[in-house]
Amino acid sequence: MNSLVEGKGVGSALIDAVKKVTTQFKCERLWLITTNDNTKALRFYQKMGFVLVAVYRNALEQSRKLKPEIPLTGHDGIPIRDEIELEKIL
Ligand SMILES: CC(C)(COP(=O)(O)OP(=O)(O)OC[C@H]1O[C@@H](n2cnc3c(N)ncnc32)[C@H](O)[C@@H]1OP(=O)(O)O)[C@@H](O)C(=O)NCCC(=O)NCCS
Repeated sequence: MNSLVEGKGVGSALIDAVKKVTTQFKCERLWLITTNDNTKALRFYQKMGFVLVAVYRNALEQSRKLKPEIPLTGHDGIPIRDEIELEKIL
């Protein structure tokens, strides 16, 4: 997900569009991964009805082996380290 223009309803519209597809295909669970530094995304997803499922500690170590360009530091100067899984039961 990337809104490009934030705080104008793009993110909510993208989630609504995904929900339409999941309804069409009778999906039961919508899930996603974000990183520990992305507090804005964590706020956004939780306000959209997603709940935290799991924290994969130090998962970025593995990710960086495949994609070394992932920076060490992310939003607000927070080290990017863990993956956080969220879900919404449909
Ligand atoms: C996280 C992200 C997807 C959220 O998307 P967004 O487009 O900013 O989301 P929305 O605009 O729908 O909602 C954000 C806020 O704007 C508000 N808003 C929505 N439409 C609005 C409008 N027309 N005018 C003013 N505010 C509005 C929403 O109510 C919400 O407010 P709240 O946080 O107080 O509840 C976006 O910040 C983003 O793309 N970030 C960069 C990439 C990223 O980190 N992606 C996630 C990877 S897992």
